[in-house]
Amino acid sequence: MSLAAKLRHELAATIGSPGWRTALETVPREVFLGQAVYRYEPERGWVPVRRSEMSTEDWLHLAYTDETWVTQIAGVLAEDATDPVLISRPTSSSTLPGLVVRMLDAAEIGEGEKIMEIGTGTGYSTALMCCRLGDDAVTSVEFDPVIAARAKAAIAEAGYMPMLVQGDGLLGYEADAPYDRLIATCAVRTIPPAWVRQVRQGGTITAPMLGWTGGVAFAHLHVTDVGTASGRFLSDDVYFMPARPHAAPPLDTIQLGIGDASETQVDPSLLKNDTALFVAQLAAPQAQHAWAGDILTLDDTETGSHADVRPALDGGWVVHQDGPIRIWDAIEKAIAMWQEAGSPHQSGFGLTVTRESQRVWLGEPDGPRWELPSYRSSLSTTGRT
Ligand SMILES: C[S@@+](CC[C@H](N)C(=O)[O-])C[C@H]1O[C@@H](n2cnc3c(N)ncnc32)[C@H](O)[C@@H]1O
Repeated sequence: MSLAAKLRHELAATIGSPGWRTALETVPREVFLGQAVYRYEPERGWVPVRRSEMSTEDWLHLAYTDETWVTQIAGVLAEDATDPVLISRPTSSSTLPGLVVRMLDAAEIGEGEKIMEIGTGTGYSTALMCCRLGDDAVTSVEFDPVIAARAKAAIAEAGYMPMLVQGDGLLGYEADAPYDRLIATCAVRTIPPAWVRQVRQGGTITAPMLGWTGGVAFAHLHVTDVGTASGRFLSDDVYFMPARPHAAPPLDTIQLGIGDASETQVDPSLLKNDTALFVAQLAAPQAQHAWAGDILTLDDTETGSHADVRPALDGGWVVHQDGPIRIWDAIEKAIAMWQEAGSPHQSGFGLTVTRESQRVWLGEPDGPRWELPSYRSSLSTTGRT
């Protein structure tokens, strides 16, 4: 057995998913990483690591480590990078195989089903699906033309031929619809209506969600009727890069201490808890949060609303709020509702999507509800690569 095959078998045994074991033992991940990846080093940022600068053994060990390998940052491929990148965020990667398989298992993908994947990335997860379900069962869409072309070459080199589309996956791919399962490997702010239309009744949509406040949830929805889908969020916490047209707009310089001052008894550091942040986001979905020392800032660039919360000298916290939306008041109210319900994890919430609205509910569909912000997609067309 070659070293690559041995490492694949070891990785498959570690991940331990019976349904995906053969695919993990078969698909060569090194083919999907290209000639370089970025590795994060706290002191230097994202450092390009090149295949040509290490032995084949070391490169294979890197490929079969259960880690995410970032391949592109702010549009620059690792192999084209000349220096480490300090502040920009990853825009494409090969997700760690353990998480890829957790996603595929969560989507309950099985033989005989037709799959739509959003976010081809390197093509590794696409190839795993082709290996298990067959080429004809898989359609995958990638936003970035360079990434899409590289994925196409890598998938072909590994011996697979799914339907690959380059374009905005938030529009789905009508020509191959209906799908039994739709799985996204980039995070959405709201569920794109095209997805609900293109999945058959009884089919599922499995997608990581990420809003502008930074709150995450893992949606697993059943399509119940034409244009309608519903389901409870899953208990697995998954973090993915935002789908490109759903990413938060850039924040300008933040002004502190502007607007009306008031007192609050809600400790802002509560928002360091993932579920509390998710709840805050339900109440103020346009607000982006940041920390300036122990001061929490919340800014809504669309309406120009601002809030900041800082410790008061005599206990409690002081809030400053400015602009048309009282961001902290809305968050306080939602946090109180959540705490009254026993502070459940995101899996205590669900989402119902109809043609008119997208509502997150607490407990049951008729429990407390929050509307998700309206859907936005780029207007780019999708085309086969
Ligand atoms: C985490 S990577 C995907 C990992 C991939 N499944 C793999 O196994 O290598 C997320 C990918 O989603 C892509 N993406 C972001 N927004 C998208 C969109 N609107 N439509 C399609 N792809 C998108 C990014 O360009 C990126 O390549």
